[in-house]
Amino acid sequence: MKFGIIVGSHRRESESAKVGAYLSAVLTEMGHEPWTLDLGKTPLPLWDEGVFSGEGQWQVMTDLNEKLKVSDAFVIVSPEWHGMATSGLKNFFMLCSSTSGLEHKPALICSVSAVDGGAYVVAELRASSYKNNRLCYIPENLIVRNVGSVLNDDDSLNDPEAHPYFVDRSAYCLRLLAGYADAMRSLRTRGLIDHETYPNGM
Ligand SMILES: Cc1cc2nc3c(=O)[nH]c(=O)nc-3n(C[C@H](O)[C@H](O)[C@H](O)COP(=O)(O)O)c2cc1C
Repeated sequence: MKFGIIVGSHRRESESAKVGAYLSAVLTEMGHEPWTLDLGKTPLPLWDEGVFSGEGQWQVMTDLNEKLKVSDAFVIVSPEWHGMATSGLKNFFMLCSSTSGLEHKPALICSVSAVDGGAYVVAELRASSYKNNRLCYIPENLIVRNVGSVLNDDDSLNDPEAHPYFVDRSAYCLRLLAGYADAMRSLRTRGLIDHETYPNGM
């Protein structure tokens, strides 16, 4: 299956990108086809009305929507910044409508903190971010706390207790996400979804 990984940090070299790359490698090992949009390396323009015509700088969304549409599931990786998800990630969601390719597909939230934060991002994304694009967050989520000491390629940087826990927990969450992706495929073909009549959620 195809998985889109959206990395929300604005930093070019971020811990969130490190986590995204780790999860991507696990998905590849499981036989899936992941792709990554790193908003630190490839930031999207800030929303304006031009997005409706898709012209000029907004060709980028036409291309991105094609990738979203062929994907079965998503992993949303966001650092916690000032107790929030990043504005780049919220901008991504603002650019995604009910026909963008996220609709009625499962997503795993993965928040990232240098210390023991991360919960605000989970609460924020679950409260908002999906109303119009109809992305479906699965009940499991990852909170990668003390990110500097886990999921590093260089094992000497990894905490011997925390790292194996995150390795196991990540694999568990991704297997579950794949299960949801498989189960939800048929949901989208049953003629239940009507975004022409109801383009926006309530
Ligand atoms: C502007 C800014 C605000 C931050 N606010 C928080 C915060 O509220 N809670 C937290 O746990 N970490 C916070 N951090 C630290 C991040 O957890 C840390 O940068 C971590 O590496 C994840 O960000 P990254 O993916 O950009 O590397 C903040 C970092 C920045 C740059």
